[in-house]
Amino acid sequence: MDKLLLQGGVKLRGEVSIGGAKNAALPIMVASLLARGENVIHRVPGLVDVMTMGKLLANLGAGFHYAPDGLVIDSERIDNHVAPYELVKTMRASVLVLGPLLARSGKARVSLPGGCAIGARPINLHLMGLEKMGAAIELDRGYVIAAAKGLKGAVISLDIPTVTGTENLLMAASLAKGTTVIENAAREPEVVDLANALISMGARIHGAGESMIEVEGVHELNPLDYTIIPDRVETGTFLTIAGITGGDILIRDCRSEHDDALIAKLEETGLIIEKKDSHMRVAGPGRLTSRDVKTMPYPGFPTDMQAQFMALMSVAEGTSVIRETIFENRFMHVAELRRMGADIGIEGGVATVRGVRKLKGTDVMATDLRASASLIVAGLAAEGTTTVHRLYHLDRGYERIEEKLKKLGATVERVRDAR
Ligand code: EPU
Repeated sequence: MDKLLLQGGVKLRGEVSIGGAKNAALPIMVASLLARGENVIHRVPGLVDVMTMGKLLANLGAGFHYAPDGLVIDSERIDNHVAPYELVKTMRASVLVLGPLLARSGKARVSLPGGCAIGARPINLHLMGLEKMGAAIELDRGYVIAAAKGLKGAVISLDIPTVTGTENLLMAASLAKGTTVIENAAREPEVVDLANALISMGARIHGAGESMIEVEGVHELNPLDYTIIPDRVETGTFLTIAGITGGDILIRDCRSEHDDALIAKLEETGLIIEKKDSHMRVAGPGRLTSRDVKTMPYPGFPTDMQAQFMALMSVAEGTSVIRETIFENRFMHVAELRRMGADIGIEGGVATVRGVRKLKGTDVMATDLRASASLIVAGLAAEGTTTVHRLYHLDRGYERIEEKLKKLGATVERVRDAR
């Protein structure tokens, strides 16, 4: 198990380039199951989750390898329809194979993901939508067993605009007979990127990015040749890093419009952000001012940036009230930030962060992906050395982060943790 040692207090300066979006790459890799042949996906980030998805697709019968210009997935022969517990438990996004397997093979056996550090995260809405499309679904010993003799278009109204639920249904509907309408669909850029990838394969999808999406099913889809959008959470994490260190960073290869809600909030705190076509310059003027946030589905403030924003607020001037409305247990970083001297109270889904002048480096434990990122953000501003244990969470979603930080002038070192 690796840990990361960080020396805080250096103003980070220079350029950083953003990789492809994890949460777009995963569903788009799965979309290759809907075609037969060689799919090429460009700008897929080198992440542990991408490797896990590769293993899952290989387990279903697909070929999977890296070529110089992208990730190649050969989906000619898919001869298995089981997503086993061992793979699903390490990555919940594995449930994305449910819709495509049903659409392609008429059957799927996918392990239920179970709970997760940040919340219960049920998949009832994925199942409800597929049932509406004519699938017969049973739950047996922790597995979803689904079968369909040809999926049919349906009107599906989601109680919550679930991201992976919308993606599962989009993929299933692309090969269903007739028209599917998804009401209260998720509007995240990653959903739009998946829809664009499907459209490039020949799918007929209208309204992606809006609350109502219409999909006219087609008989077959062509293999993919597609480039993933930049990762808005990696971009956001570097914005907060510039803010907390009082640095000056040029963030390259990003899409600032995908971070509008975050950028608006960061500007209110005093951070200076200049947006250009595919890059942004961000400069921290010194101590920032506290602001309140409430996490919301896109285009609201993203839950995936809540922990990093909290780290930033822990040293801002004033008090910040942070409401988490998407996941019921996404405050696991609070106890770790407190170990570094942050003054944070929690009541239900509300954290009250009273800014302190300094954090102090110490040993902290990463508990989930974005919580780990927040500890790094905090550690970069803390006095002395911060040691972030259980780094494997971070490797699921941030590509070569220590290299990128070093290039910006940070003193960081990855070492093997004996514990
Ligand atoms: N929900 C239900 N029933 C369902 C589906 C969701 O009650 O059938 C609830 C969840 O429990 C949660 C809320 O709806 O309270 C929203 O969950 P959603 O389904 O939208 O989340 P997800 O699809 O499981 C994706 C991202 C997450 C990100 C969330 C919210 C992927 C692979 N994962 O998860 O990313 O936080 O959307 O934006 O796209 C991360 O990258 O660190 C991460 C956790």
